[in-house]
Amino acid sequence: MAFTLAHLSDPHLPLPVPRWRELAGKRALGYLNWTRNRHRTQRREVLDALVADMQAHRPDHVAVTGDLINMALPAEFVPAREWLETLGASSKVSVVPGNHDAYVRATRNHGTENWRDYHSGDSTGIGDAAFPFVRRRGPVTLIGVSSAVPTPPLMATGWLGQAQRDALDHVLAQLSTEPGFRVLLIHHPLRSAARHKRLTDADALLTLLRRHGVELVLHGHDHVHSTMWFDGPRGKIPAIGVPSASAVAHGHIPAAAYNLFSIERDGEQWRCEQTVRGFGEGEEIRELRRATL
Ligand SMILES: [Fe+2]
Ligand SMILES: [Fe+2]
Repeated sequence: MAFTLAHLSDPHLPLPVPRWRELAGKRALGYLNWTRNRHRTQRREVLDALVADMQAHRPDHVAVTGDLINMALPAEFVPAREWLETLGASSKVSVVPGNHDAYVRATRNHGTENWRDYHSGDSTGIGDAAFPFVRRRGPVTLIGVSSAVPTPPLMATGWLGQAQRDALDHVLAQLSTEPGFRVLLIHHPLRSAARHKRLTDADALLTLLRRHGVELVLHGHDHVHSTMWFDGPRGKIPAIGVPSASAVAHGHIPAAAYNLFSIERDGEQWRCEQTVRGFGEGEEIRELRRATL
């Protein structure tokens, strides 16, 4: 029986009304953006409908690739945890944070504190630290890294940092001797056209992937459908991005969607089928695309 991994990202849960003193610095711009635009284009009812459709497909595991919230206000973290609990128990849902979850320095660790069990490793000796974590579920090995760092206003870059990359190097070296289907979870895409939104140490991460390989990379951040291919030690590695799980289509930004990956062993190879489901032109959620990776 194939293992089904669901992937959704960037829910940007509705923002509670902030206190005025919380709107200093970067948050002032973020709040302006929310009141002018985002509250219209990120909708809770869209997210709830998408999650209901995903749950109807009974995935074995759910990966959430960050930006659960918006401005990392203290009042945003507990509702985000409650939303995670509606997705499933922490053993069945894996989370990596996005830049909006670590929006400002003051609350950069609140996500780790409130959502810890959703990104804790299996305590098997490798990947036990917060990031990178390693979780084995059926034939799948999930490796989660955090690219979430506070940035100056108008910047949305990500960064893994030397210590996390060194730990990832070690983890991937160990996992390359195991039979699991390795899935790397990261918020930022591995290549970005926009300098202010890029993963600044992407080249170093790509070097690790070329050396050790994984079978699949899942990310969010850009709020668009995306498939990119990167070099691995034995052929190309697909990296898949997905629109925001709460998005109403606007401009070049597509409506909310999520991925289902059906993963199974096929002799010496892996077989991985991607199904994209979401809102097309209409109000209904439907299958948008199917691909063999
Ligand atoms: Fe986002
Ligand atoms: Fe993001």
